[in-house]
Amino acid sequence: MNIATMSNIIKRYGNHIVLDHVNIEIRQGEILGLLGPNGAGKTTVIHALSGLIGIDSGNIELFGERQSGSMLEAKRNIGLVTQDITIFEDLTAKENLAFFGGIYGLSGAVLKRRIVETLHFVGLMDQANKRPTKFSGGMKRRLNIACSIIHRPKLLIMDEPTVGIDPQTRNHILESVLELQKMGTTILYTTHYMEEVQFLASRIVIMDQGHVIAQGTIDELVKNIRHEEKIMLEVVELTEALLDDIKQLDGVKHVTLLGTTIQITLQAGTGNLDRILSLAKGAGGVINIHAQKPTLEDVLLTLTGKQLRDTEGI
Ligand SMILES: Nc1ncnc2c1ncn2[C@@H]1O[C@H](COP(=O)(O)OP(=O)(O)O)[C@@H](O)[C@H]1O
Ligand SMILES: [Mg+2]
Repeated sequence: MNIATMSNIIKRYGNHIVLDHVNIEIRQGEILGLLGPNGAGKTTVIHALSGLIGIDSGNIELFGERQSGSMLEAKRNIGLVTQDITIFEDLTAKENLAFFGGIYGLSGAVLKRRIVETLHFVGLMDQANKRPTKFSGGMKRRLNIACSIIHRPKLLIMDEPTVGIDPQTRNHILESVLELQKMGTTILYTTHYMEEVQFLASRIVIMDQGHVIAQGTIDELVKNIRHEEKIMLEVVELTEALLDDIKQLDGVKHVTLLGTTIQITLQAGTGNLDRILSLAKGAGGVINIHAQKPTLEDVLLTLTGKQLRDTEGI
């Protein structure tokens, strides 16, 4: 069963189409990685899914029911970690959890127990009675995550939870996400960091400019671009002229230099290896050559013509 299905979603702001016929399904028990550069429409997908904004057309099903009205029941089964951290700075960590637990109808001994369990889970037990004013960004984010899982949601939605966070907390968060999945939570994890979806995701949806441009497992995505090969070549005499000659060959898509290694992306089956080798011989001979399997990065490059890294500003 799908936990959520978004079909043909269109969302406009004025004349700007922010979601253009978006289809996404979230399957029970998976970590679905929603990957895309800034402005792709990831947050808008999340807002639509969790009922925070309306859509212009399309259909959203959550937990087997069509999304409509206030969705009170569905909202109780969702945990949302927003892109901007939403916690109260003038309440202690414990009081923050009590507040959010209260919203979801928890009280008494159950609430108390959940607060302890959840603080423990995010590693903030020793900060229970402190206000977040002096917390690091990473600690605030962990408290924020705690507030969104206090009611044990079936679906946890996380909107770029590691942006601007120190590497140690980032790893802690990623490990926690895996742990939550093991405990049975379905997770929609949004990010513009490819490494994170590679590490976490059971399946991936890639968005760019309001469109879903691909979805599937990493293996499936990579298979779809099998029509490309990548060759790594090192030669004795590396020159601009050699790079230019390689670029001129039929079927060669990109030539880039990684240190002294020439990385050549080419259309599969063009029989260019012979020609590349003879060019290499003319450049003093081959030191090293090997073919590389396509990666998720290659999928993105093929689909969008750009590396996500270009747009992420780190
Ligand atoms: N409330 C809004 N009014 C107008 N434009 C918006 C609004 N929210 C988002 N957008 C636009 O929608 C596009 C997608 O935004 P968003 O969903 O936040 O992308 P992402 O989360 O992938 O960075 C962007 O071009 C953004 O400027
Ligand atoms: Mg966003």
